[in-house]
Amino acid sequence: MNSVAIKSLNTFRMNVFAKRIVVALTEEDLLKAWRQATILDNQPILILGGGSNVLFLENYMGTILLNRIRGITIKESKDAWYLYIHSGEIWNRLVNFSINQNMPGLENLAFIPGYVGTAPIQNIGAYGVEFCQFCEYVDILQLDNGKKYRLNKFECCFDYRESIFKHSYRNNYAIIAVNLRIDKIWKPIIHYNGLTHFNVNRVTPRQILNRIFLLRKRKIPNPLFQGNAGSFFKNPIVDAKTAKILKNKYKNIPIFSVKNNQFRLSAGWLIEKCQLKGYKMGNAEVYNKQALILVNNGKATGTELILLAKYIRDKVSEKFSIWLEPEVRFIASQGEIDPSKIL
Ligand code: FAD
Ligand code: EPU
Repeated sequence: MNSVAIKSLNTFRMNVFAKRIVVALTEEDLLKAWRQATILDNQPILILGGGSNVLFLENYMGTILLNRIRGITIKESKDAWYLYIHSGEIWNRLVNFSINQNMPGLENLAFIPGYVGTAPIQNIGAYGVEFCQFCEYVDILQLDNGKKYRLNKFECCFDYRESIFKHSYRNNYAIIAVNLRIDKIWKPIIHYNGLTHFNVNRVTPRQILNRIFLLRKRKIPNPLFQGNAGSFFKNPIVDAKTAKILKNKYKNIPIFSVKNNQFRLSAGWLIEKCQLKGYKMGNAEVYNKQALILVNNGKATGTELILLAKYIRDKVSEKFSIWLEPEVRFIASQGEIDPSKIL
């Protein structure tokens, strides 16, 4: 029988249950919980930070392991600060802490929900900055034998919303800490829409952070009032030929050049152009101020959100021949499932 409500542990506010919740304050707690669930109880186990990038499709038939291992150690060289941060620290608290300590750099990544240990998994990014620009290495713990590994930033294979932690180190591994390097020469990143009015010589980290608060407030619903997991899909990456065809056909289409002759489209724009902004399907909705965000109006089920996501994907595909890939991770009764199985 499932007995523990996990509605408050996921920002989509899915009204689902798990068999057990365990809070890990140490690495030993992680190992103990893993042993108890998998070996003794023969049940699945899922590590969660803030539950802000998952969609629970149904009740979870196992243990939810809340990683809350805390601690920050700071070292300093002539050129940089090095922060060794345990994975159970809250990401946005870290951003504020670093700025309060006069170590600016992370301000564009402010207000992203979730925990430090999850930041490398999808290489969190916002307002022209990505986690990987600061990461020196990530420490992981193999849960079935207690062995620890350190992956340097190259081994992490970071890319846009990508890393090795979505692939090889997905099951049976916990991220236990990250090491960030913050350069002592602060360079404000203000090229993103909404930040360009700042004067590069006068702007302060706090001004950027405050501005980002306002930008995010305008476009992203607060999960406390409207369940959501941020962007539901990734922004599609296309080759130069596709980008050119789209640009010729749709003069106003936002297209951003990324590396290696690749171009990033705005999934939100594509969805809006399919007239789906504010579109409702049952209790699931496309957010009316940002079409890339799907919201739970309070009573949505996983099935309703998936049906809406499918509908969006089909419409975008019909109109633009672009196939949207989900950013959110789907969790079924026995654990994470491959999006291609349900979308
Ligand atoms: P969770 O949802 O708890 O977990 C995500 C996945 O990681 C799960 O598969 C889980 O099993 C696994 N996991 C968690 N912790 C560990 C660990 N220690 N070791 C191994 N595996 C683990 N993202 C951005 O990049 N940019 C944004 O601007 C942004 N804005 C957002 C705004 C809102 C309102 C919301 C709700 C989400 C937003 N996101 C954004 C997405 C989300 O905040 C990030 O993906 C975040 O890093 C998820 O952290 P979490 O701790 O909540 O992860
Ligand atoms: N747009 C529309 N209509 C919409 C939404 C967007 O036309 O409804 C167009 C606009 O032209 C806008 C552009 O898309 O200028 C970009 O929109 P926005 O700045 O809101 O960013 P995004 O590309 O939709 C990405 C991240 C966000 C991150 C913001 C800010 C992804 C999948 N999402 O969204 O991350 O906060 O940029 O940097 O890359 C998340 O990952 O959960 C997330 C919220």
